[in-house]
Amino acid sequence: MTKQIRFNAFDMNCVAHQSPGLWRYPGDRAWQYKDLEYWQDLARIAERGLFDAIFIADVLGTYDVFGGNDLAAIRQGAQVPVNDPVQLAAIGAAVTEHVGFGITAGTAFEHPVPFARRLSTLDHLTKGRVGWNIVTGYLPSAARNFGQADQLAHDARYDHADEYLEVIYKLLEGSWEDDAVVRDTATGVFAIPEKVHHIGHHGTHFDVPGIHLSEPSPQRTPVVFQAGASPRGVAFAAQNAEAIFIGGPTRDAAKSTVARIRKALVEAGRDPYDAKIYLLSSIITDETAAGARAKYEDLLSYASVEGTQVFFSGWLGVDLSTYDLDEPLGNVQSNAIQSALEAFQGENADGRTWTVRDIVKLGGVGGQGQNFIGSPAEITDTLTDIVEYTDVDGFNLAYATTPGTFEDVADLVVPELQRRGVYQEEYTPGTLRHKLFGAGDRLPDHHRGAQYRVGGPLSTIDDHTDTGRPIPAVI
Ligand SMILES: Cc1cc2nc3c(=O)[nH]c(=O)nc-3n(C[C@H](O)[C@H](O)[C@H](O)COP(=O)(O)O)c2cc1C
Repeated sequence: MTKQIRFNAFDMNCVAHQSPGLWRYPGDRAWQYKDLEYWQDLARIAERGLFDAIFIADVLGTYDVFGGNDLAAIRQGAQVPVNDPVQLAAIGAAVTEHVGFGITAGTAFEHPVPFARRLSTLDHLTKGRVGWNIVTGYLPSAARNFGQADQLAHDARYDHADEYLEVIYKLLEGSWEDDAVVRDTATGVFAIPEKVHHIGHHGTHFDVPGIHLSEPSPQRTPVVFQAGASPRGVAFAAQNAEAIFIGGPTRDAAKSTVARIRKALVEAGRDPYDAKIYLLSSIITDETAAGARAKYEDLLSYASVEGTQVFFSGWLGVDLSTYDLDEPLGNVQSNAIQSALEAFQGENADGRTWTVRDIVKLGGVGGQGQNFIGSPAEITDTLTDIVEYTDVDGFNLAYATTPGTFEDVADLVVPELQRRGVYQEEYTPGTLRHKLFGAGDRLPDHHRGAQYRVGGPLSTIDDHTDTGRPIPAVI
């Protein structure tokens, strides 16, 4: 196998991201999510393991599908309390040189103008090490807090996101020309106004006539991540994503999702490998195979059944409190994560229909992804096998304990992968985009976002001509 395996560390600014109950595990530091030191230590560990990025998930609502209320979610610390993800990139970048920072932010509730500025700010502060995980949301509780009776219907959320992205691209790619800032001390001109364009966006959801408030950052548009795997989600990803997270609780589910995504990329006029695909999974390892299995059993004994049901009720949009543990999901429909619902209505790795008990057992440690348990050599065999079988590019690693799970991967698994020649020995210098694709800092010219650049086919620039009177330089 020649493909290099890639890792992201997947975390969230909360105490229980994917493995509810594990915050009680001895030595676990998830409860320190409020501390700068925790995030800086995590950044150092991810960089030690030559990970592509730390990815910070986010939601803007509570998981109140389970039992029809938020009591269990609050009791379990299940993604609530949850702090803002954006600041974490800047503080992690302050103590590292290479590792990237992926920030999750939804398109449903924050206006694109301030959000575009936040992206630019982070890309400046990190010197181009930022990615944006675009999410369209799945929790109705979030919509209610923004004054809506419910979230938009699934596909309509993506339609709305299409225009959101259009505004973001216009601001980040099409407002400031590269040579607009001259900082000319002789003339007193900081920026040439004729090279800073009013984007002239007048759409269905947004009206943004003016300029972007930030000057161009190293990547302009941060590396675009996305995770939707439904037909509409894949169509959106094929247009926009440079890296894609997929779920996939079995090898076969992952393989078919990857094949659909690669095909959709080609249909969108891109190369099938224009987007890196990371499979959500957890790695439980130790020096020996027996040690790894014992560790897994020990971890599982801390997993919270209630917390896991809370998460899956939210992800699937199905209230699992109404099911017996040995019941399958049945032919239900929801307005939540369609790809997850489809996967768990199918068969598990043993060829049986998933029951709620199977789902809870899988999800208690590491959430929706597969768990890989074994010695570093066994894990390496498994990962290389999965990459070959499914054609994924890497793994988005959910933790069982933090930073323990990530330290184990960085210190035990990465050296073994390197020995087998399937993992980078050092970082490529430069921005996150350049590290991933080796083709420069900016979006490639054929990417959708590049079409909104000044002079590009989708640019809607609408500049004013200044008719004001001349102002004297000195009074
Ligand atoms: C690995 C992974 C991580 C995700 N992280 C988030 C997240 O942090 N916040 C969020 O609102 N949605 C998250 N999602 C959900 C997706 O953004 C998307 O809404 C979901 O996959 C629904 O897509 P689909 O209905 O098109 O399949 C994640 C999905 C996956 C697979």
